[in-house]
Amino acid sequence: MVLRVIFIFSFLFLFSCGVEDAEEQWSASAIENGEKLYTIHCTRCHGATGDLGASGSKNLQISTLNTDAIQKIIREGKGAMPSYVKTLNSEEKLSWLSEYVISLRN
Ligand code: HEC
Repeated sequence: MVLRVIFIFSFLFLFSCGVEDAEEQWSASAIENGEKLYTIHCTRCHGATGDLGASGSKNLQISTLNTDAIQKIIREGKGAMPSYVKTLNSEEKLSWLSEYVISLRN
């Protein structure tokens, strides 16, 4: 009986991982992946072009932060901006996103 329960739970666990992978289809291009993450997590304050300024957010088009500083803010949050350490929890995602944020500059 115990084994059976363990078996069912591990099956459910594997199955849920499979679903998650299917939802996250990443392309070969870092910029495209970054845009996808940006659209999901960042547009509500920064806007599609980075200059919306909702909730007192900074204009990303005129930002001068480097990659490390951008990733630090995404991880830790700042002021009204929340921390994304739980949702964007891989170096890869942070790197795609910071590359995309920099590409918003004119
Ligand atoms: C709830 C609104 C909100 C969301 C969502 C949000 N931000 Fe922000 N963001 C802000 C605010 C407010 C600031 C200004 C923080 C401060 O300096 O006090 C800011 C600042 C920044 C800065 C620093 C710009 C500079 O030059 O100082 C970057 C980079 C940034 N956000 C990127 C992002 C990214 C990438 C996402 C998505 C993962 C995101 N933000 C999601 C509100 C938000």
